[in-house]
Amino acid sequence: MIFSDKRTQHHALVLGAGGVGHALARALAAHPGVASVTATNRGAATEKDGIPYQSLDLTDDDAIAAFGEAQVSGAKAPSLIFYTAGLLHGAGLTPEKRLADVESAALVASYRINAVAPLLLAKALSPGFPRRGPALWASLSARVGSIEDNRLGGWYSYRVSKAAHNMGLRTLAIELRRKHRDLLCVALHPGTVATKLSEPFRRPDQPKLLTPEGSAAALLKTVSALTLEDHGGFFAYDGQPIPW
Ligand SMILES: NC(=O)c1ccc[n+]([C@@H]2O[C@H](COP(=O)([O-])OP(=O)(O)OC[C@H]3O[C@@H](n4cnc5c(N)ncnc54)[C@H](OP(=O)(O)O)[C@@H]3O)[C@@H](O)[C@H]2O)c1
Repeated sequence: MIFSDKRTQHHALVLGAGGVGHALARALAAHPGVASVTATNRGAATEKDGIPYQSLDLTDDDAIAAFGEAQVSGAKAPSLIFYTAGLLHGAGLTPEKRLADVESAALVASYRINAVAPLLLAKALSPGFPRRGPALWASLSARVGSIEDNRLGGWYSYRVSKAAHNMGLRTLAIELRRKHRDLLCVALHPGTVATKLSEPFRRPDQPKLLTPEGSAAALLKTVSALTLEDHGGFFAYDGQPIPW
């Protein structure tokens, strides 16, 4: 559906691009339905593999608002947007094994990146979304954010913040549908992917470990096959729906 109208050439944006995000940016740059790709990271503005990167710290509300304003007022208002940042560990944060490990700082830091930043970005960028014609807001969640799928427990901060992400996305989808009839808004699980985020937790015999390129190709295939009936849903990289 996203690429079904061959006359539409999308300007794509990959927000908070790490392992999966960079691979997605590269896959988008090679897609015939994509006119341009811009990515963001929190380092200095740069270029990687031909992808221009703008600097954007996702904990900086003013920077997010200014970034959105510049994107929306420019000649290339993005119509294909992936939020790909995520926080699971690092900067003193270790996924909790048990309740005794839970601390407010880790909960709040995870919530900031996994749940708050995508909504602030949607707020900043949505004035540029087309009223008619195909458009996409896709945000990377995680299967462990599914309440129904939670059988193992643990990882409180990540699970809680991804569940909040999912509710934010579902609420956003309902509001966007009122103004942007052809826009598809979905949450995506990228699979277990060999990136910095999963590195400390992968087992040597990890089943179904994807490369960032494999995950990006599968995610692009999945969003290309989704229709407006799937708006507001949660899907894995292989196209399978995930219960909330
Ligand atoms: N990899 C997996 O197995 C897996 C599984 C399920 C879901 N996911 C989800 O998939 C998405 C992509 O993850 P990934 O595997 O590509 O991980 P990744 O390589 O670690 O990428 C995550 C990105 O988020 C960025 N980020 C974190 N805090 C930021 C901030 N304050 N400002 C700007 N950027 C910030 C990181 O930047 P820095 O490099 O500067 O820290 C990094 O580039 C995440 O939402 C993750 O939760 C991944």
